[in-house]
Amino acid sequence: MKPRLLDLPVHRDERGFVGVIEGHEALPFAVRRVYFLGDVPGGSVRGEHAHRALWQLMVAMSGAAVVELDDGQERVEFHLTGPELGLLVPPGQWRVLRDFAPGTVLTVLASSEYDEADYIRSYPEFLDWTRSA
Ligand code: TYD
Repeated sequence: MKPRLLDLPVHRDERGFVGVIEGHEALPFAVRRVYFLGDVPGGSVRGEHAHRALWQLMVAMSGAAVVELDDGQERVEFHLTGPELGLLVPPGQWRVLRDFAPGTVLTVLASSEYDEADYIRSYPEFLDWTRSA
């Protein structure tokens, strides 16, 4: 499956907003972990790895960031600009997270607990892995 940008319902009124992540389209996996990135300096790049089996849903709860995903054949750039957008990331995507706006909090819902064995941290190794899969 390819990565997908999803419209998430956000209920706004004069009291602020309530954003919702629910249902099979946004979460085609059971959530086993939630983590969040913040205080990322504008020029910093995070990620630079792939996962063998992990599914994720990424949301910029506040602020904005760019997520570049590469399946070994094509590279697509996604602009996460707020709680209305969720990026569903299937396994096997080399990701680069960059261009964090000041104050951005990027939340990631993930299908399993932290497992270093699920990471591929070298791009040449990732390309070999995609070709042998
Ligand atoms: P890292 O993988 O470098 O973050 P990123 O993918 O955003 O570049 O993780 C930073 C540190 O946090 C590293 O020491 C591992 C730790 N960590 C956990 O303990 N649990 C987690 O769920 C995650 C994502 C990271």
